Amino acid sequence: MALKDVQAVILAAGKSSRFKTGKTKLIEKLCGREMILYPTKLFSSLHVPITMVVGFQKELIEDTVQKHFGDTVLFVEQIEQRGTGDAIKTSQPTWTQDHILVMNGDMPLVATDTVEELYAKHKKEDAAISFVTAHNCDPTAGHYGRIVQDDNSIEIVEAKEFKGDISENCCINAGVYLIKRTFLEESIKKLTQSSVTSEWYITDLVKIASDEKLGIVTTSASFDKIRGINTFKELWAAEQILKADIVKYWMDHGVRFSIAHNVQIDRDVTIGAGSSIESAAQLLGSTIIGKNCSIGAFSIIKNTTIADNTTIHSHTVITDTTVGSDSEIGPFAHVWEDSVIQDNTTIGNFVEVKRSTIGSNTQAKHLTYLGDTLIGNSSN
Ligand code: UD1
Ligand code: MG
Repeated sequence: MALKDVQAVILAAGKSSRFKTGKTKLIEKLCGREMILYPTKLFSSLHVPITMVVGFQKELIEDTVQKHFGDTVLFVEQIEQRGTGDAIKTSQPTWTQDHILVMNGDMPLVATDTVEELYAKHKKEDAAISFVTAHNCDPTAGHYGRIVQDDNSIEIVEAKEFKGDISENCCINAGVYLIKRTFLEESIKKLTQSSVTSEWYITDLVKIASDEKLGIVTTSASFDKIRGINTFKELWAAEQILKADIVKYWMDHGVRFSIAHNVQIDRDVTIGAGSSIESAAQLLGSTIIGKNCSIGAFSIIKNTTIADNTTIHSHTVITDTTVGSDSEIGPFAHVWEDSVIQDNTTIGNFVEVKRSTIGSNTQAKHLTYLGDTLIGNSSN
C-alpha cells in the first residue's frame, strides 16, 4: 500500500536509563540487527521519508543507521531529553507532508500491516490524530500508557500518573501515532510539562484533540506486535518472538530444524530449501546457506556463504568465508578471515584455515594449520 502525504518521525533520543548499561538501548541487537534498524527498515519499506530524533549517544545511532541507509534518513537533535512531546517538537522544521507518522524507536516487532491499517482508518475518518492500541492486563507490564475513555472523552494516562486498576484498564498505548500536520502544529504549542516527571508527553496530544472534539481514531494490534523494549527482560522476550518467527519462516521454505527452539538464526540470514539445521547451530550476520546443506550441531557460521549440497559437521566455526558446493567441513574445524573453500573439498577435524584458498577436489583431513596459503586448484 502506498502511504500518500505521509512522512515518518522515529523518536530515538532517549537515555535508555532502564537498561542500566549507560549505553543507548537502540543499538542493542535482536537476532543480529540493531534495534533502531527495525523501525527504519519498516518505514523504508513503506517508502515514506524518515526523520530520526537523536540525542543521547547520537553518534552511535547515526553511524548504525547511515551504514545501512546512507544519507536517506534525516537526523535532528534533541539536545536535552525532556520527553516524547519535546522530541517530536524538535522535528518540526522537517515537517513537509500533510500527515506525520510518529513511532518510538524501541518497538522492533511492528509490521507493515499495523501501520497500513492505522493509515487507512486515519484517512477514511479524516482524523486529527490516530494511534495504535493493544491489550495487556499484566500489572508487571506497568510502564505502558493506559487508554482512559468514556462516551465523551479519550486520553492516554502515563503509567506514573495512572491511579486506576490495571486489571480493569487493559487497553494500552502502543507508541505509534499518525497526526495531521495542521493539528500537530497547533497542539504542540499547548503541551505542558507533567507535574510528576517534568517531561512533555506526546500522548497528551490525544487529550487536546478530545477536549477540542476533533476526530480521533484508534486501531488495535496484538500486544506481541507492539512490545516496547525498556529493559533487558523485555528485549529477551521480544527476541524470543522474533527467533520463533524466523524459524517458522524458514520451515515454510523447506528447511528442517532437528531441535528448533535452541538454534540462533539471525534476521538477515538466508537458507536454501532441503537444508537441515541441527541442535544449537548458530547462523549469524549475513550468512547464506545453499540448498540441501546440513549444518551440524553447535556449529557457528557467521558472514559466510555456503553453496549447495555441503555438509558442515558439528562444532565447526566458520567466519567471513566462502564455501563451495559438495564439500564437507568439520567436526571441530575453524575456517576464518576471508578464506575460500572451493567445490568438492574436505576440511576434516582439528583443521584451521585462515586467510587461505583451498582449491576444489582438495582434502585436508585432520590436525593441520593452513594460514595465508593457496592450495590445490584455484582456477575459480
Ligand atoms: C512510551 C509512551 C507510552 C507507551 C509506550 C509504548 C510517552 C510519554 N509514553 O512510554 O504511553 O505506552 O511508550 O512502548 O510517550 N525519547 C526521545 N526523547 C525523550 C524521551 C524519549 O526521543 O526525551 C524516545 C526514546 O528513545 C524511545 C521513545 O522516545 O525510543 C519512547 O520513550 P520511552 O522512554 O521508551 O517511553 P515509554 O516509557 O516506553
Ligand atoms: Mg519505551
